[in-house]
Amino acid sequence: MLTPDTEGQPPFLPPTPAGVARAAELLRAGEVVALPTETVYGLAAHALDEKAVRQIFSIKGRPLIDPLIVHGLDVEFLSTLAHFTPQARELTAACWPGPLTLVLKKRPVVPGLITAGRDTVAVRSPAHPLARTVLQACGLPLAAPSANPFGYISPTTAEHVRTSFGTKVPWILDGGPCAVGLESTIVDVSDPTRPPRLLRPGPITAEALAQILGQPVHGPESSGRIDEAQGLDAPGLLTRHYSPRTPVALLKPAEPPPLTPDQHCAWVRMGRHNKETTPPGDTDIFWLSETGNLTQAAQGLYALLRQLDEAGYAKIFCELAPATGLGATLNDRLRRAAGQG
Ligand code: TXA
Ligand code: MG
Repeated sequence: MLTPDTEGQPPFLPPTPAGVARAAELLRAGEVVALPTETVYGLAAHALDEKAVRQIFSIKGRPLIDPLIVHGLDVEFLSTLAHFTPQARELTAACWPGPLTLVLKKRPVVPGLITAGRDTVAVRSPAHPLARTVLQACGLPLAAPSANPFGYISPTTAEHVRTSFGTKVPWILDGGPCAVGLESTIVDVSDPTRPPRLLRPGPITAEALAQILGQPVHGPESSGRIDEAQGLDAPGLLTRHYSPRTPVALLKPAEPPPLTPDQHCAWVRMGRHNKETTPPGDTDIFWLSETGNLTQAAQGLYALLRQLDEAGYAKIFCELAPATGLGATLNDRLRRAAGQG
């Protein structure tokens, strides 16, 4: 049976062959299905079906100027949609399947709706076994933005998707918590005559990309500035994005929050230094990792921010990570959560 219903809430599709077959059937019929990837949950639809893609924008409340990522099994499949440059091939050989999105020149078959009228398309081959099984079963390119209302924190569990959308997203494939927990790295390698540009820092770090390509990878330069001609540079770079409703304030590594006598605040820390226990004043403390392991911190960050957002704190203080590698990505998301991107 495919419907373990809970009090009128949409049922989850289970991570079984039957659940995958149903998801694939729905996608082929032009429906929107939320599914897990290794980064975050995505809101997927047949990328070449404009009616289906329109539903994604409408469900998310996403402006049409914000282009979508197209997911496919591999380079061969995605080559039917995009022109892979030599740099793109070097990156895919090293990182696919995985949390790396490439911006490439699009082929005519890709609808302008997906690319917000650009001549480039973002493509990614996800590593999550369930996402791959669905891609295999439906045989379609799948457009999938993160499955959150526009501007809110990305979902890392099926329950996050259901909490945000309720009956608006009736089909959610439940693959448990996402292993990575932060959105994919986006790099523009569409033009072989220009240096690669990092549009969104992510799990595959700028340092790792530079090592693969044998040259530095710079960016992002813009902070959500709208360019009249081009639209948003990469709208994931909007200054306020990935944001809880509760105000977020940033702290340097190990810096304590100020005393807030009249407010009940939360303090999010990367690691538990010296087994500390006592936060200052009326502040609850939360450690993303006992040891300061940033991979673990990334896995849990969005779930914790959602939990704290529901808990009614006056403010969430977040400790920044050391600013290199995955720490730079965590800090990027924390700055955007704080509206300081
Ligand atoms: O990890 C991820 O990438 C997740 C999972 C579901 O794959 N997806 C995701 O999609 O984060 P979304 O739509 O939330 O973020 C995609 C970002 C947006 O900021 C969009 O502006 C940018 O990719 N983007 C898409 N196409 C682009 C293009 N042609 N040029 C520049 N940026 C593009
Ligand atoms: Mg998103």
